[in-house]
Amino acid sequence: MNIAVLSRNPALYSTQSLARAARVRHHFVRIIDYMNCDLIIDDNGLQISYHGQILRDIDAIIPRIGASVTNYGAAVIRQFEEKNVFTTLSSSALVKARDKLSCIQLLVSKGLKAPSSVISNNSMMYKELLQRFVGDEIVVKLVNGTHGIGVLLADNHRQAESIMEAFNKGKQQAMMQEFIRESKGSDIRILVVDGEIVGSMKRQARPGEFRSNLHRGGSAQIETINEEEKEVALKAVEYLGLKVAGVDMLRSKRGPLILEVNASPGLEGIETTTKVDIASRIIKFVERSVLK
Ligand SMILES: Nc1ncnc2c1ncn2[C@@H]1O[C@H](COP(=O)(O)OP(=O)(O)O)[C@@H](O)[C@H]1O
Ligand SMILES: [Mg+2]
Repeated sequence: MNIAVLSRNPALYSTQSLARAARVRHHFVRIIDYMNCDLIIDDNGLQISYHGQILRDIDAIIPRIGASVTNYGAAVIRQFEEKNVFTTLSSSALVKARDKLSCIQLLVSKGLKAPSSVISNNSMMYKELLQRFVGDEIVVKLVNGTHGIGVLLADNHRQAESIMEAFNKGKQQAMMQEFIRESKGSDIRILVVDGEIVGSMKRQARPGEFRSNLHRGGSAQIETINEEEKEVALKAVEYLGLKVAGVDMLRSKRGPLILEVNASPGLEGIETTTKVDIASRIIKFVERSVLK
């Protein structure tokens, strides 16, 4: 097969890992920077031009779209979809999972649980809205942040209000969330490929830090998850229409709470922690889907 990995950076671990897995399985692989894909829409339909050449004969794409360029990434995927090229990530699922707000809106509306959250552009309302939360500590986060940047812990309501005001002043969409103290700086990442859980790990924040992101110095270890956590992870990806995804949840007194679902999950942390060759699982999923 001709497989294209849509990635901005060929040197990234995940991109390399996918390309290697595809080549091992005798596929022809191209790494395409989707931000350099020019989209042509005319009477002949939809075409994609890459460095001046129309892309043809691609059997499948594996999009790895960065959080800051979701809209353009989705537009590129849409051009491929229109050509009936198989994609491991549909443009509509990418848009639904796009930011933390749209993700938990959809999942909570389907009956899954997330930390209680409030969003408001009206600073006069913050105080009242915060009364809904138990405890003084409040998490404030940017809806489209990644790697833990843009996630802050306020010690009290007044601090939370000031942080929200600063974000809103900078035209950054942010939300306030109940702080799940009992998760003790850890969260669970569950990797799902084609309706199957292929790996799970627990990430623990370094001492003095509440964010468990590996980019913020957190550490990861393999973790067995219980039936409820499995069910929640599989339902979350199903509701979002994702086939390859990383589901992040906090273990709380009221069960697993979904933090976010990553539509282009990084493979480095999960592959090195679990020793599972997840890239190959993704390539096998592509084979099953295209060659059926
Ligand atoms: N409501 C919360 N309660 C407790 N810890 C949280 C909460 N929200 C986030 N965290 C911690 O902060 C980390 C980063 O938050 P997250 O929402 O996943 O943002 P990012 O997309 O930047 O990773 C999480 O992995 C978790 O460890
Ligand atoms: Mg996260």
